Amino acid sequence: MGAFHARICVLAACLLMASQASGYSMEQMCAQWSGEGYIGNPSSCRAWGYCRGQQLIAWNTCPDDLIFNAQTGRCSDPATTICSTSATQTCAAATSPMYVANPLNCTEYCYCDGLGGLSYGDCGEGGVYQASTKSCVWGPACPQDTICRFMPSNIFVGDPENCGSYYNCVNGYGTSTKCADNLYYNAANGLCQSTNPCNSDNNNGNSGQFTVGETNEIICNSTNFKEAPFIYKTSTTTAESYKYVSDFTTCYGYYYCPDVNEVGVWNQCPTGTQFDPKKGKCVSPAAYACPYNRCGNVESTFMAQLNTECKSYTICSSGLTGSCPTTSPYYDEVHNLCTSGKLDYAICKSA
Ligand SMILES: *[C@@H]1O[C@H](CO)[C@@H](O)[C@H](O)[C@H]1NC(C)=O
Repeated sequence: MGAFHARICVLAACLLMASQASGYSMEQMCAQWSGEGYIGNPSSCRAWGYCRGQQLIAWNTCPDDLIFNAQTGRCSDPATTICSTSATQTCAAATSPMYVANPLNCTEYCYCDGLGGLSYGDCGEGGVYQASTKSCVWGPACPQDTICRFMPSNIFVGDPENCGSYYNCVNGYGTSTKCADNLYYNAANGLCQSTNPCNSDNNNGNSGQFTVGETNEIICNSTNFKEAPFIYKTSTTTAESYKYVSDFTTCYGYYYCPDVNEVGVWNQCPTGTQFDPKKGKCVSPAAYACPYNRCGNVESTFMAQLNTECKSYTICSSGLTGSCPTTSPYYDEVHNLCTSGKLDYAICKSA
């Protein structure tokens, strides 16, 4: 199990890093929760918000030096409450020795000496710190890095990366869960239902067609495997035996193939990136002309259309086609503007 995760980490670890620390806004967290109550603010461990009806309706900061405990929804004593956004702050207030996760880097953990100081430990390449067990485990994902970290204990919330799935939040940790076969989670009422609430008017994010970890028996067949590029670790020139193969359905999903004809395991690119099957990597969407729905997994209102030299774009909310004014006919999706000069992105070149 460890070895498997260590390998899949090569692609995922570096890329996921970027999306991990930044996290979600309080608005995005409230949108995933059908309940009502306090949540933590990911940008400061003293600040909180209040959700009702999937909206953020109030926010403020704890008085004095108190730290907001998102799991209990209370402003609490800094000497005994972990600051979820700063290990330095936790250790400065800690009155007895303890280990805490480094919120900025999951490869590391921190040791508070109980006298106000701290030192850093390192989980090594491919390792991540699991705060619930106070130990290093294999990646690729950071165990404490779900929206549950800032939300009350014992609730269900939608998975913002994976519409139709949900998390069971307990003490700041999220267990990713799926509804029964052919059912989808609806974040508005917290229930599983037979119609897919994710397909209605929003093409962004994961469309729910696949779930992370989903397996496929035939995707790693000899044709697909042969066509996928070799994977090299940055420090070596020796090709790995595994490869990454497109899911041939979405722009952001790929299968990890341990070897030819073995079972493939689905995973998705970090938000804002798409899978380039020729490179076996997640890249900027403009750098690869993906033939599937280009609105998936990006937080963009418009996405340029294939084989139009970027003269047409898709309006992601509706799927309709739009075009720039004739004076500046090219749509630059990286900068989200219409321009008069021809664009050099891969997506703007004719096939
Ligand atoms: C995280 O910590 C590890 C170990 O100290 C270090 O090698 C790596 O560069 C750090 N990553 C970031 C993004 O700072």
